[in-house]
Amino acid sequence: MSVEIFDKVKKVLEDIESAVPKSQEEVEQFRIKYVGSKNVIKPLFGEIRHIPNELKKEFGQLVNTVKQSAETKFKTLKETIEAESENTEARQIDLTAPGEPVALGSRHPISTTMNRIIDIFTRIGFVVAEDREIEDDWHNFTAMNTPEDHPARDMQDTFYLMNSAEMLLRTHTSSVQARVMTSQKPPIRIIAPGRVYRNETVSARSHCQFHQVEGLYIDENVSFADMKQTLLYFAQEMYGPDTKIRLRPSYFPFTEPSAEMDVYWGLKDETDYRITKGTGWLEVLGCGMVDPAVLSNCGIDPDRYTGFAFGMGIERQAMLLYRISDIRLLFENDVRFLNQFKSTL
Ligand code: PHE
Repeated sequence: MSVEIFDKVKKVLEDIESAVPKSQEEVEQFRIKYVGSKNVIKPLFGEIRHIPNELKKEFGQLVNTVKQSAETKFKTLKETIEAESENTEARQIDLTAPGEPVALGSRHPISTTMNRIIDIFTRIGFVVAEDREIEDDWHNFTAMNTPEDHPARDMQDTFYLMNSAEMLLRTHTSSVQARVMTSQKPPIRIIAPGRVYRNETVSARSHCQFHQVEGLYIDENVSFADMKQTLLYFAQEMYGPDTKIRLRPSYFPFTEPSAEMDVYWGLKDETDYRITKGTGWLEVLGCGMVDPAVLSNCGIDPDRYTGFAFGMGIERQAMLLYRISDIRLLFENDVRFLNQFKSTL
């Protein structure tokens, strides 16, 4: 009798040790069977009554071992199954969850200003023309009627490419005029935005790289009055419908006559006095009637065609528009600066 009951207890121990419950369900069954309030080990303690006295101690120890073994095993099983379910939870993807927002960047103030200018001119039929920043001497200077001894050709102003007297970084977008005139036939109506380079000391007011927008209009009977009206339209679109302009005589090698256009900015506060030098007028662009010599340099008959051209710096306009006091900010790409333009288009 007592041998049998000993075997029965040992069998329970073997069952516990060899059990391999895998799912949560099987672990739960293991718990009910060996650890729960109605487990199979409890009644074994009651059997001690039928054990002969000399074996009672041994039997008691054996049943205790079984109990402990069941509890330890259940504890480990529970821990493993919990860790697993945590893992699967993490791997589950909720397809109904709202998407993560993509942080929007901002457009650079130079781009927004340039796009605004382009937009104004494309509305009256100008087409964007872009060309190279590394230019040859002919397109940048010679074709543009800039004589060999002109100060603008001085090595101090122009970045020449290493070991080359011929190749340079364009000093103005007027080089695009030459590119377009030598490859297209009139009527020509283009707007050429782009980056230009000059060998200048970098300061709050000037930089060795900046942006320009060039305009060129060539057809039969294009007059100075056409130019003035076009530029007035531009100024009023750019600075408001009541904007006044004035053209001051000036000089450029590639235009004759040449002028500089001022817009009336006003004298509302101290800054206005400073930026307009007390006059209320602000210089915005250079312009003029295309010099006949430029037309013939580029293969266009100056007896048949006339035209006007203009060129303006973008940085200056962006600085006025957004009240930026240091041109260097526009080239440093400091996000603390750029983030301030998030709402501009
Ligand atoms: N290229 C001139 C400059 O860089 C601007 C300009 C362009 C003037 C076209 C007249 C006509 O200052």
